[in-house]
Amino acid sequence: MHSLELNKIAGALLGTLLFVMALGIIADGFFARHKLEKAGYALAGFVDSHGAGQAAAAAPDTPLPVLLAKADAKKGEGAAKVCTTCHTLEKGGADKPTGPNLAGVVGRKMGSTGYAYSDGMKGMGNEWTYENLNKFLTNPKSLVASTKMSYAGERDPAKRADLIAFLRTISDGAPPFPTP
Ligand code: HEC
Repeated sequence: MHSLELNKIAGALLGTLLFVMALGIIADGFFARHKLEKAGYALAGFVDSHGAGQAAAAAPDTPLPVLLAKADAKKGEGAAKVCTTCHTLEKGGADKPTGPNLAGVVGRKMGSTGYAYSDGMKGMGNEWTYENLNKFLTNPKSLVASTKMSYAGERDPAKRADLIAFLRTISDGAPPFPTP
């Protein structure tokens, strides 16, 4: 009797554990890349800093010009598949109901294709410089708090640089990358 009771409890605990593990596995599937990158950084920080891992992890990111100099537009083109859920990328492409056309976006005035932008985006009155694109693509809401772009952002600086390098290839007359 007693051991049956214990078995039940053990079973319930095991079930909960499995459920949590399954959640973890599902979450890993969604965020696999981000997780990997985080681990990479933590390790690099640890190695560099002789034990001051925390301080190194909080160190500023590699400057954008350095990242852009190493960026791979071809990889960025692959990564931009996710953008095509909402955006057209070809020159002269129409705005979708879900997002404006992105051809020519580098150097363009923010919120200027005629798409039904958020008021926040319309009110920016700024240009899509490489810095602004980098900030927006890290976390759209960090640049335009009320943005309609419900894309979480690419947290990996190198992958973001690849994306920006790709956007440059679809933007006639885009300025050269800043020199590192
Ligand atoms: C879920 C849909 C969705 C996804 C996915 C998405 N976007 Fe957007 N994007 C939008 C919307 C909507 C806007 C307009 C935002 C506003 O008005 O605030 C926008 C705006 C932009 C702008 C500003 C354009 C302009 O004309 O000012 C850029 C740049 C941009 N997105 C880049 C990207 C890139 C690069 C990706 C892929 C990495 C991406 N977006 C993924 C929906 C999306």
